[in-house]
Amino acid sequence: MNNNETTFLNMNNVNVFYDSIQALKNVSLEVAKGEFVVLIGANGAGKSTLLKSILNIQAPKGSINFKGKELTKLNTDKIVANGISIIPEGHLIFNSMSVLENLQLGAYHGKKNEQSIENILEYFPILRERKEQTAGTLSGGEQQMLSIGRGLLSDPELILVDEPSLGLAPKIVNDIFNILVKLNNIGYTILLSEQNAKKSLEIADRAYVLETGNIVMEGKADDLLNNEEIKDAYFGGNI
Ligand SMILES: Nc1ncnc2c1ncn2[C@@H]1O[C@H](COP(=O)(O)OP(=O)(O)OP(=O)(O)O)[C@@H](O)[C@H]1O
Ligand SMILES: [Mg+2]
Repeated sequence: MNNNETTFLNMNNVNVFYDSIQALKNVSLEVAKGEFVVLIGANGAGKSTLLKSILNIQAPKGSINFKGKELTKLNTDKIVANGISIIPEGHLIFNSMSVLENLQLGAYHGKKNEQSIENILEYFPILRERKEQTAGTLSGGEQQMLSIGRGLLSDPELILVDEPSLGLAPKIVNDIFNILVKLNNIGYTILLSEQNAKKSLEIADRAYVLETGNIVMEGKADDLLNNEEIKDAYFGGNI
């Protein structure tokens, strides 16, 4: 995974500051093409900041390389055009617009058109059923699916998914996670941020653990799933 052939996303000593507060501290992380990597961390650990730094939504110091291109020098639109898409925390959709209008907006920003919207509707049958419905009246799970659908319209190779389980019932979380697994199986590379450590380790290939802006552990998801420190810190209560 360290040779050039397989290097896909590579973050090297990345620091992010909000004024005087340092939210990411010398973060180094790799994602290989085709991998499903999860980033685990509690509230405020820096998960969203890390994903935003990749897209230069929150400016990073250090190096972030994607397929040989240095991303820190590019603006967000260019980074998206290079094949990275973010499904933001809280499934950002336009509540007063219909499902279809939300997708058309996603397509407008991407390279694709009606055909890709058709592909998304094929992929999420529930969205086709509800395509004329106002997005704000969809269930939480359906809104998350719409948000994922929108993220696919820019034709990404790498999808950054920020806490998709937030506020959803366990059954719906399983549905969403199954969708992510399917997307990974058909070739999308996934970097998922989650507080739901157990469930996400069950579906990921590899994992990083973020604590107050530091990567404190990394490894195969299976190994972390059986790690006592991880179990104690992250498997208690409902996370
Ligand atoms: N716009 C901002 N201005 C100042 N500080 C911020 C800003 N956004 C985030 N932070 C701080 O940076 C740290 C990391 O926040 P971040 O949102 O990345 O955490 P997170 O791991 O995504 O948390 P959560 O699980 O609650 O979403 C926190 O201490 C937070 O208060
Ligand atoms: Mg967050």
